[in-house]
Formats: sequence, C-alpha cells, structure tokens
Amino acid sequence: MRYLVIFCLLLVANCKEKKNPLFEKLNTFNPGQEWLDDKGKHINAHGGGILLHGNTYFWYGEHKIEGEIGNTAQVGVHLYTSVDLYNWKDEGIVLHVDETNSNSDISKGCILERPKVIFNEKTKKFVMWFHLEPKNQQYSAALTGVAVSNSPRGPFRFIKSLRPNKGIWPLNVKNFHKKKIPKITEKSYCGGPQCMPFHVDSLNILGRDFEIGQMSRDMTLFKDDDGTAYQLYSSEENSTLHISQLSDDYLSHSGIYKRFFQYRFMEAPTIIKKNGKYFIIASGCTGWAPNAARSASADNIFGPWTELGNPCLGENANTTFNSQGTFILKVKNTEDNYIFMADRWKPSNPIEGKYIWLPLNISDDNSIELEWKEKWDLSIFN
Ligand code: GAL
Repeated sequence: MRYLVIFCLLLVANCKEKKNPLFEKLNTFNPGQEWLDDKGKHINAHGGGILLHGNTYFWYGEHKIEGEIGNTAQVGVHLYTSVDLYNWKDEGIVLHVDETNSNSDISKGCILERPKVIFNEKTKKFVMWFHLEPKNQQYSAALTGVAVSNSPRGPFRFIKSLRPNKGIWPLNVKNFHKKKIPKITEKSYCGGPQCMPFHVDSLNILGRDFEIGQMSRDMTLFKDDDGTAYQLYSSEENSTLHISQLSDDYLSHSGIYKRFFQYRFMEAPTIIKKNGKYFIIASGCTGWAPNAARSASADNIFGPWTELGNPCLGENANTTFNSQGTFILKVKNTEDNYIFMADRWKPSNPIEGKYIWLPLNISDDNSIELEWKEKWDLSIFN
C-alpha cells in the first residue's frame, strides 16, 4: 500500500511538471499574451532593446514592479538572453539603481526608461544609454544616462547623466534659434502638443536650452554599418526629434547632430537600415496611452527624412495595436528581416505590461507595413 501511495504521489508530481511552463519550449510569438521566461515568469524587460552578439540575443529592458510605483525605477535594467527569440533565459539585473546613495542620479525611485545597448568594436565595451529623470523631478530634467560593461551580461557601471550637445548648435540650426530669447522660468513638465501654445511666444526651445544642453527623453541607439553610432531622442519639450552622432567610444556625443520632424512630437523612436535606406517608426506623444505610429525614410541618416504615415494596417491601426514601439530587431541568419517590438503599457500595474512583436514588412518600393498577428513564427520570413 505504501508503495502505491508513493507511486501515485510521483505520478501527480510528474503530471504537474509536465504542465509546468518551464518544460514547454516555445516556438511561436503570441503578441499581447503573457510571455514566460525559463523560470516560468512573465518577462520583465519593458521599453527594451536587443543586442545580437555572437549567436545570442540580449534583451535589455526596464524591470517593473507591482503597483503604480513600478512606473519608477525600483530595481534597474533586466537582461534576458535567447538564441531563438522565442525562449528567454533570465540573466538578472545588469544595472542596479543606487539603493544607498539618495543623491545618485540613478537612486532608487528615479525614472530610468528605454535602455539600449551597443557593442563598441574598438574599445570592446558594451555601452548602454537610457532616458533618465532623477528622483522626485517627474519628467522635468530630460536627461540621458550612460553605463558601460566589459560583458554583455553586465554588470553595467553607471558613468554619467547629461543633457546632449551643450553649447553646440545642430547642423541645421536656423537663424532665429540664435536670436536672444526671453528666459522661460516655468519648471513644470508638459510633454505634448497641448503644451505648444505655452511656448508659442518663443518656439525657440533649442535656443532656450543651448547653454544647458538639449532635452533628451524617449530614445534609441543605432549603430551603422561603418561602426558610427547615433542616439535618437525626443527633444525640445518632446516637440522635435534629434539625431546625434556619438563619439568613437560611444560614451559621449560627438557634437554633430541635426533636428527633424519639427513640432511633430515624435516619441518612442525606433530605426533600421535596409538596402542602404533608413527607416524610422515613432509614436505620437500621449504618455502611456497608445496612439497611431508614424514612419519615415531617408537615404542618409542626417536626412532629408520623408514621412510615410502610419505603417499599421487593419483593426486598431490607430493605436499601433494598443502599443507603443521600443525597438526594431534584425533577425540573425536571414536576409534583412525585421521585427517591430512594442510595449502594451499597464501604468496601473506596470509589471503586467505585455509585449507586441510583429514582423515588419518593407517592400521593394519602400512601403513599410505592420499587420496584426495573433500568433506567428519566424517561418514567415522564409
Ligand atoms: C511615454 C514614453 C514612455 C514613458 C511614458 C510616461 O510617451 O514613451 O517611455 O516615458 O510616456 O508617461
């Protein structure tokens, strides 16, 4: 009898194991559904970006916690790795917020968003940039932060935070930017087209910030074929996108930059290059609420950029399928195939935010399209 009981217990345990997602290898993308990692937990890497290094994909993103406090950085940047893009291994936190020094720019409770990592071939360092707002300042500081590591698995060491291009005009500065402007003393955060009338007496936000450095909020990084890297960020109270070349070591801005999509309030910039042509997908500016994406293309990263409209097709195209972009991923071992990665934010409980990954279709005539898929896999690229 005792053996029978033990046998039954083993049987039950075994059945339980089989149902355990830990043992189910994934072979599809299921946009908007829970996405379990190797420990059976929903992946926690929001506003993320992916580095392909060797044969491995490294997914870095914001670690969120339960409750509204999770909209601030309580933990840091979380890393997951994968070789097939479906199954992700939890590699832990690679950049920790500072829990001991409340004066640190990355002290616990700051806002640390949209981390992106690129590898520098010359210095052999992995360089991370992110949007940073020191604690208790809401979104008013509009800084960018830099961290560095010798390994893609971290740990990343925070180096500095800054406003880009202090004292430097963009290549396409206009005469009126250089005119003396009245000082704007208001400190409160306002980050959308609705704020424009407020600044209308001096639409010269670039000139206003010339001496202290340009505002930098939603951002991404792009490493071109020749190794030159760029940061793209929403600047000038989010009204205008800046594309700014990085220094050779990727740790600073080179001072060469241009402003684009003036007063279009582009956020969540993502970028790729296909057949020598650059494509941007960005969002409008409505906080956590989704809006219609925009796209644009150019033959040169420094423009001119031509807007191509909303790349999304079909139902819910006007909300980017209820999400906001974060990165465009190039699939390894395939000819020019790309995945658009987006976040379905849940500001009331950010840890539950879901991921929307969709194949990006760029046709030969350079039209760029995103179609909703309930379930799909990489064979779509065959
Ligand atoms: C979004 C932005 C997010 C976050 C949010 C805060 O527009 O893309 O990264 O900053 O606003 O409201």
